[in-house]
Amino acid sequence: MNDYIIEITNLSKKYDEEILKNVNIKIKRGEAIGIVGKSGNGKTTLLKCIDRLLNFEEGTIKYNGLDITKIEPTKLRKDVGIVFQEYNLFEHLNVLENLTIALTKVKKIDKLEAINMAEARLDKYGLLNKKNHYPYELSGGQKQRIAIIRTLLMDPKVIMLDEPTAALDINSKKEIIKAIKELSKNNITLIIVSHEEKVIKKVCDRIFEIEKCTLKEM
Ligand SMILES: Nc1ncnc2c1ncn2[C@@H]1O[C@H](COP(=O)(O)OP(=O)(O)O)[C@@H](O)[C@H]1O
Ligand SMILES: [Mg+2]
Repeated sequence: MNDYIIEITNLSKKYDEEILKNVNIKIKRGEAIGIVGKSGNGKTTLLKCIDRLLNFEEGTIKYNGLDITKIEPTKLRKDVGIVFQEYNLFEHLNVLENLTIALTKVKKIDKLEAINMAEARLDKYGLLNKKNHYPYELSGGQKQRIAIIRTLLMDPKVIMLDEPTAALDINSKKEIIKAIKELSKNNITLIIVSHEEKVIKKVCDRIFEIEKCTLKEM
């Protein structure tokens, strides 16, 4: 099997103006990659291209040696999960429902088993007492951790985190950093995007910067 889980070759993406040009990166299985760059430099755009949430004009992205445009998007997204900056929790569902809905609907896991899986993870992350709470009753850091757990429960091979510590206080940041370190222990490949270099340095093996539309190793 190919050593690289993600290989991006000469990726270019533009909206009205050019956002990414000739981006190249090879990511090994189990690596934690950090991507920094100023706001508006194309970090979120890059993650969306990797998960086929956006099309791109030029270049190729391979997952496990396969061109992602040849992979069914829902199948790709089961393996390559993304945790967005805005958490995207369902506001009308409580924590447990937020965590189990994809397990039962997408993964077709039995409801009781899904609840057991979710509760075990919540316990591990110290959030079991929040299982019946709704997102509006949670802090930003708690919501972020729930969103990470939700992605984790889908058993992905790669998790992409978009600004996981943005807008959080110092204690919440520490909790998120702990949660991310826990992820990388589980041999999950991580791509973490942040404009906070300090956070990235704590959790990543290699750090890249997006500047002037290209990606450079720091
Ligand atoms: N759907 C879109 N249509 C047009 N321009 C967009 C769209 N999404 C993002 N952009 C622009 O592309 C640039 C990169 O955005 P983004 O990838 O979100 O940057 P970052 O995540 O690094 O802050 C920004 O200038 C943004 O305004
Ligand atoms: Mg962004």
